Amino acid sequence: MTKSLFSIIILPITLDDMRILAIESSCDETAAAIVEDGWKVHSNVIASSLNLHKKTGGVVPEVAARAHLEAIIPVLEKAVEGRHFDAIAVTAEPGLVTSLLVGTETAKWLGYLWNKPVIAVNHIHGHVYANWLELDPEKDRIELPILALSVSGGHNELILMKEHGEFEIIGKSRDDAAGEAFDKVARILGLGYPGGPAVETTAKNCAEAKLSFPRAWLNQSNSGRWDQSSFDFSFSGLKSEVIREAQRRGNLTDQDQAEIASAFQEAVCDVLATKLIGAAKKHQVKEIHLTGGVSANQFLRLVIERHMKEQDLNRPFRHPKKMNYCTDNAAMIAAAAYFTTTTTATS
Ligand code: KG4
Ligand code: ZN
Repeated sequence: MTKSLFSIIILPITLDDMRILAIESSCDETAAAIVEDGWKVHSNVIASSLNLHKKTGGVVPEVAARAHLEAIIPVLEKAVEGRHFDAIAVTAEPGLVTSLLVGTETAKWLGYLWNKPVIAVNHIHGHVYANWLELDPEKDRIELPILALSVSGGHNELILMKEHGEFEIIGKSRDDAAGEAFDKVARILGLGYPGGPAVETTAKNCAEAKLSFPRAWLNQSNSGRWDQSSFDFSFSGLKSEVIREAQRRGNLTDQDQAEIASAFQEAVCDVLATKLIGAAKKHQVKEIHLTGGVSANQFLRLVIERHMKEQDLNRPFRHPKKMNYCTDNAAMIAAAAYFTTTTTATS
């Protein structure tokens, strides 16, 4: 639970069978969802203004905010459609302020009109809770502590979570988030926006990996690998390497695009997986989690699994159960609100 920038009233909740209506509007998705007891998804509606941002190759805050204003009521109507709920949760930070305000002001007014408590949620904590969605605690329970790599366009963090609501950031990007690097590299290669899925698809066309980019370990051993000291990340140097390589090749053929995309993806995923597994071992966690927009990347999931196998790390590895729980959505915000405010929640 976060102390809100928007002075939202935060009430403690102690109910079971608790349905939360959540609103997410921190970037370019306007989303609303109703989730019961932090995992059972009754509705999950997402309207994206992605198409409006394709022209500019990135999100323009003013354009995103206007799109939220248009979408928020229809999205809420569809998510609610006569369903009951006990509380309202809303993403309060971090994000684009003009986008966040649409969600937080709507939530506050609805809370006032309907006499429901309003819970402020941190967006990054929301991403961590995406892994609880659709996980029936009667059948499968997440065991704490966990080490979560939350990686998307706006953030890139290694989070140690010992208890619900306790998030210790043990590493973060010092410059670009990995998703942002995917988006920028896609632009350099002329692959469009959003870059992540485009780079992943293009990389699959690389038949033979001839190119390799240096990894930014931020402290490396004599062997050129990570020396285990820093859990931070840096991806801006890699982006410059990609620019240099693209300029060196001139007019890029499909094969050039595939080779560069694949080498870039390899370098990012190697660093992310190495530090995630290193942190998980250091803190002796029970589970390893991947979440955020970049967790949709199948190659990254495979690299993490390979590292776990190579290092005999026999722990559950979880990522969101559905693709639209990886990228921004409101169901994860409802789950975070449930697990960080209810006193009876046990899983
Ligand atoms: O979580 P999200 O929807 O928004 C933020 O909170 O930033 O993440 C969006 C980011 C974008 O940078 C997008 O390029 C990246 O996630 N992304 C991917 C993939 N799908 C989305 N990156 C790599 N591979 C993917 N398949
Ligand atoms: Zn996000």
